[in-house]
Amino acid sequence: MTTSVDIKIEKATRSRVLEQDVNNVPFGKCFSDHMFVAEYANGQWEKTYIMPYQDVPMSYATSALHYGQAIFEGMKAYKNEAGEVSIFRPLDNFNRLNKSAVRMAMPEVPEEIFMGGLNELLKLDAAWVPTAETGSLYIRPFLISTDEAIGVKPSETYKFIIITCPAGKYYAEPIKVLIETNYIRAVQGGIGFVKAAGNYGRSLYPAKLAQQKGYQQVIWTDGATHSYLEESGTMNLMFVIGDTLVTPALSDTILDGITRRSVLALARDWGMKVEERKISIKEMQEAHAAGTLKEAFGCGTAATIAQIIGIGHEDNYYPLPPVAERQFSNKVDETLRNIRKGKVADKFNWMYKIN
Ligand code: PLP
Ligand code: COI
Repeated sequence: MTTSVDIKIEKATRSRVLEQDVNNVPFGKCFSDHMFVAEYANGQWEKTYIMPYQDVPMSYATSALHYGQAIFEGMKAYKNEAGEVSIFRPLDNFNRLNKSAVRMAMPEVPEEIFMGGLNELLKLDAAWVPTAETGSLYIRPFLISTDEAIGVKPSETYKFIIITCPAGKYYAEPIKVLIETNYIRAVQGGIGFVKAAGNYGRSLYPAKLAQQKGYQQVIWTDGATHSYLEESGTMNLMFVIGDTLVTPALSDTILDGITRRSVLALARDWGMKVEERKISIKEMQEAHAAGTLKEAFGCGTAATIAQIIGIGHEDNYYPLPPVAERQFSNKVDETLRNIRKGKVADKFNWMYKIN
């Protein structure tokens, strides 16, 4: 990998980092001093620069605002006890961003721009990376179309931008989730496997209805039959049934989560039985009735490991075993935290050190 891209840097005249406690800010509302920008025009990536975090002037006709050529990524940087900053699996996010770009008819971002921009930005804003046990700097790379044009066609200009914000826990408490059997997140041939803005916009109304019923999120089911569990909100789904870790198999309706990959790798490394396959609502109900549904959790970058304490389906509610009894998910949560914070050996080479 090369980080030799030429990045013009304009530093903030004064840092805002001391104006708040980075270990204690609400998720996604407080942004660090700088941002990285790369501009695409004339069939190539032309300019790369870092500037103080700011609003950027934009036409109301900007195509991303109308037709949703807008994709993003989410990853996190951590600080170890020596104060060194590392990012969790950024190359996986880089690859997924470009998979999204291809599906949305957008130009791919070169690795040296993605990784070079990330490295320079994190060097400048290292003071923004929280030190708290569950703290991290959330990194939001995104790619948007920028043509000032109302015609429906792929834009000819784009901006790739990286902004960052200190983050604590996304869900303060274990969550209750409601199986959604009316609205659909993704269908075969659609963009469920892509991290595109439209997937999130369409999810908000069903999530709002679930919240009105006392749930934090929905579990999406397959669009064709509404009988198989897919994912939940911004998380992949995991169950421990008997002694086996079961998760829905990837398909073009499910986001290929990097936390999911990491949880599966750890489980396999520990010799646990792992199955990536379809899971039906009926199987969940039967396992619950038989007492073999031991654990359920969501996993994702923002949410980390989010324990699910109960699942709703139509008029039924399935309470799950107490979180304290959950051997696998508590161990995986702690292990991931320790790897990220540099407290245990990084045997899978997941951490990318800023230098
Ligand atoms: N599924 C969806 C729809 C998401 O938005 C996310 C969050 O990024 C995930 C799953 C988990 O993916 P990752 O672990 O890469 O963050
Ligand atoms: C992430 O986990 O990175 C996500 O994308 C969730 C987010 C939309 C806050």
